[in-house]
Amino acid sequence: MNTVTRQRVLSGMRPTGLLHLGHYHGVLKNWVNLQHEHECFFFIADWHALTTHYEDPRIIEQSVWDMVIDWLAAGISPGAAKIFIQSRVPEHAELHTLLSMITPLGWLERVPTYKDQQEKLKEKDLATYGFLGYPLLQSADILIYKAGLVPVGEDQVAHVELTREIARRFNHLYGREPGFEEKAEQACTKMGKKNARMFKELRRKYQEQGDQESLSVAHALLDSQQNISIGDKERLYGYLEGQGKIILPEPQSLLTPASKMPGLDGQKMSKSYANTIALRDKPDDITHKIRTMPTDPARVRRNDPGDPDKCPVWQFHLIYSDDGTRDWVQAGCRNAGIGCVECKQPIIDCVLKELKPIQERAREYENDMATVRSIVDEGNEAAREVARDTLDDVRKAMGIAYI
Ligand code: TRP
Ligand code: SF4
Repeated sequence: MNTVTRQRVLSGMRPTGLLHLGHYHGVLKNWVNLQHEHECFFFIADWHALTTHYEDPRIIEQSVWDMVIDWLAAGISPGAAKIFIQSRVPEHAELHTLLSMITPLGWLERVPTYKDQQEKLKEKDLATYGFLGYPLLQSADILIYKAGLVPVGEDQVAHVELTREIARRFNHLYGREPGFEEKAEQACTKMGKKNARMFKELRRKYQEQGDQESLSVAHALLDSQQNISIGDKERLYGYLEGQGKIILPEPQSLLTPASKMPGLDGQKMSKSYANTIALRDKPDDITHKIRTMPTDPARVRRNDPGDPDKCPVWQFHLIYSDDGTRDWVQAGCRNAGIGCVECKQPIIDCVLKELKPIQERAREYENDMATVRSIVDEGNEAAREVARDTLDDVRKAMGIAYI
């Protein structure tokens, strides 16, 4: 296994309503793939939802369970990934508080989403302490699991970048234990002579020539060591990169490709545009939604020729149809050989077929909330175990361990 496949993955979603096909084709399918290649933690960011919905928190609780059901129905497997609720792992809040001590105000004020969202959500008063701290809470979410990869959309990349800066600052301030160099040298010997020599050579190449390849080979070498304690590994990561001990490793964002799934009106599928197909919409409603989708405005009557490039239905064909069907649409639309109702039928069939197993699974979970709750309970516990360990390290590093 190489370094990339070993990294822990963490991502979260705010519970603000039912998930739709845009989420499925963008985020969820991606998570489903990741869960087989990595250790994954996926969580419901209920505190983050409260930063913007503190005045009407009632929707949060229902949305949390709906979201868990949608995730499970979409194929997130509790056997492969841990699913948990942020507020059930209160360690996130403690780390948030501790990190707040070292976070310059300017770093938070400069995060682009801070001003953007305040502008965009004018009807809400977001001049709150909690909202300013939104990205720092997110940093705590990520760092508490020492996650290596954070799958996020474009809009969240700045938050992962802030997280890296916070981690760097933390390690810089608290990673300098007395006798660091000697301890690192000592740890080196535990790899065996040959590996230790190789490690030092790679370290020299990286530090003297900035050779990235040497850095990643050295990382892989460290990752593969079975006889070195976690503390020593952290020391050696830091030694390798020319810092002190790395207590909180820097995560990387794993950019989720933008969903190609358009909304019913051809704009991006989004709840705020009221153009969605929810994963749990009834088949009749889905059929109706697609039948009433707008088409090329030039096709007023059945015999008016049209242009698929001007029609949102065509974008659905690009996602769902094979070449044969697409050729049929292109020809039939341009020469008025087919009607729009006919043209939409294969889409209706495909969407219903895609959603059928998802909806069946969702129904099973809806009727068995005990199972859903126990999946989340287990996820919460597994998450807490990791989170507690990290906090132990953090408290020690900050001098408040009292042991
Ligand atoms: N802010 C993220 C969003 O709105 C949700 C989130 C909270 C998150 N904490 C996270 C995502 C940690 C990734 C990692 O989509
Ligand atoms: Fe759109 Fe199909 Fe009608 Fe052409 S025939 S306008 S592609 S729905």
